Amino acid sequence: THTIPIPGPPGLPLVGNALAIDKELPLRTFQDFAEEYGEIYRLNLPAGPTSSQALIHELCDDKRFRKPVAAALAEIRNGVHDGLFTAREEETNWGIAHRVLMPAFGPASIQGMFTEMHEIASQLALKWARHGSDAPIMVSEDFTRLTLDTLALCTMNFRFNSYYHDELHPFINAMGDFLTESGSRAMRPALTSVFYHQANRKYWEDIEVLRQTAQGVLETRRKHPTGRKDLLSAMLDGADPKTGQKLSDSSIIDNLITFLIAGHETTSGLLSFAFYQLIKHPDAYRKAQAEVDNVIGKGTIRVEHMNKLPYIAAVLRETLRLCPTIPIVARSAKEDEVIGGKYFVEKDQRFALLLAQSHLDPAVYGETAKEFVPERMLDENFDRLMKEYPDCWKPFGTGVRACIGRPFAWQEAVLVMAVLLQNFDFVLDDPSYELHYKQTLTIKPKDFYMRAILRDGQT
Ligand code: HEM
Repeated sequence: THTIPIPGPPGLPLVGNALAIDKELPLRTFQDFAEEYGEIYRLNLPAGPTSSQALIHELCDDKRFRKPVAAALAEIRNGVHDGLFTAREEETNWGIAHRVLMPAFGPASIQGMFTEMHEIASQLALKWARHGSDAPIMVSEDFTRLTLDTLALCTMNFRFNSYYHDELHPFINAMGDFLTESGSRAMRPALTSVFYHQANRKYWEDIEVLRQTAQGVLETRRKHPTGRKDLLSAMLDGADPKTGQKLSDSSIIDNLITFLIAGHETTSGLLSFAFYQLIKHPDAYRKAQAEVDNVIGKGTIRVEHMNKLPYIAAVLRETLRLCPTIPIVARSAKEDEVIGGKYFVEKDQRFALLLAQSHLDPAVYGETAKEFVPERMLDENFDRLMKEYPDCWKPFGTGVRACIGRPFAWQEAVLVMAVLLQNFDFVLDDPSYELHYKQTLTIKPKDFYMRAILRDGQT
C-alpha cells in the first residue's frame, strides 16, 4: 500500500515542539493542534497524538498495540513498581494481580461496599449542611477528601477521617507530593536530576511514608483477621487461578497504594465536573433532581436504587465524554504498522490517544459534539453509539489494561450524586465562573466554587 508520513507542526532543532506546549495546560495545545492538523499528527516529542474515533478504534486493538509505561507512569513505578496501573505488559505480576483482583471488583463485591461508601458520602453532606449556604465550597478539594476516604475505608478498612481534620493525613500529603514530583521528574532531562538533591530526598521519603502506612495496615490485618471481605483480604487470601501463585507482601503494598493513586482524582474530578455541568445546564439539573425525587424520595438511599437512576448515569457518561478526567491514554505499536490505511508507524512508536478530542469527533456526535446533552447517553442511545462507533467513548481506557476500578467509581459517583441532589440545591459561588482546567496526571476544574443550600431544611 501507498503510505504517507503523519502530518504535523514544524519544530525547532533540539527542542522539537516542546516550546510550543502550554506549560500549565498541555492538553490545550494538543487539542489546538488536533483542530489544525486533523485526526493524527506528529510532534517532535515522544508520542503522536491521535483524535478521531476511527483511528482510536484501531489503536485500541490489543493484538497490534499495547500500553507503554513511560513518562510520568515510569516515574510512579519508583513508588509502586509493577502494581496493576504501572506494570509493563510482560511482567508476570500484572497477570497474577489482575486475576486475583477481578472478582473483588465484581458486582457483588462492590455492592458489599455500599454501606461504607454511603457513610463517607453522608459525612460530606453533613459538613456542607453545617457550613451553611453562604460558605463557598472548594468543590474538587472536598470531593477528593471523599474519594480518598472512601477508597481507604472500602479497600483496606483504614480511616483518613479527612472531614474531621483541617490538616490532611500525612499519607495523603505524601501521595500528592509523590505524584506531582513524579510528573516533574518525567519532564526533566535525564542528567539534570543530580541538581535536585532536596527534591530527590523528599521524593524517597514520601515513598517511605506511603509504603510504611500500607505495610502497617497489612500487618494489622494479618494479626487481627476480621473476616471482612475487601480488596486487602482478596489479596491476602486469594491465589491466582492460573498459576496458583499468591501475591507477595510487597505486591500487596504496591496495589493498595495504586488503588488510592488511580482512584482518587479520577473520581473526584468526575464529580466536580458533573456538578459544574449540571449547574450550567438547568434543564439537565432539574431532570437529574426530579429523578432522585421520584425514584428515592426523601427516604434512605439503598443499594437497590443504584441502577434505577438512568438519567444520573447519562449525566456521568456525558460528563466523562466532555471532561475525561484521564484525558490522554498512551499506546504503542507491537510491530511496524500502517494505520488509517495510510499512516506508516514504526514498532514501539508511541501514541497519545487524545480522548478529550476524540470524544468531540463530529463524525460520531454531530453538530452538538461540544455541547452537554445527557440524553444522548441514556442507556439505549449509549448502547447504539458504542455499537455503531466502537471506542468513541473511552474514559476508562481500553482492552486488558482498562480500568479495573470502574464499577467502584460508578457506584460511588451515582451514590454521591443522589445524596447531594436529594439534600441540596447548588449554585455557583461566582455566577460568572467559566470552566478552566487544572492539569496534573488528571484534569479537574480550576478555582471552581459552589454553594450548597439545604432543601426543606433536612439532611
Ligand atoms: C486504569 C480511568 C477510577 C483503579 C485506568 C485507565 C483509565 C482509568 C483511563 C487506563 C490507564 C492507562 O491506560 O494507562 C479512571 C476513571 C475513573 C477511575 C475516569 C473514575 C471516574 C478508578 C478507581 C480505581 C481505579 C476508583 C480503584 C479502586 C485503576 C487501576 C488501573 C486503572 C488499578 C490499572 C488497570 C490495569 O492496567 O490493569 N483507569 N479510573 N480507577 N484504574 Fe481507573
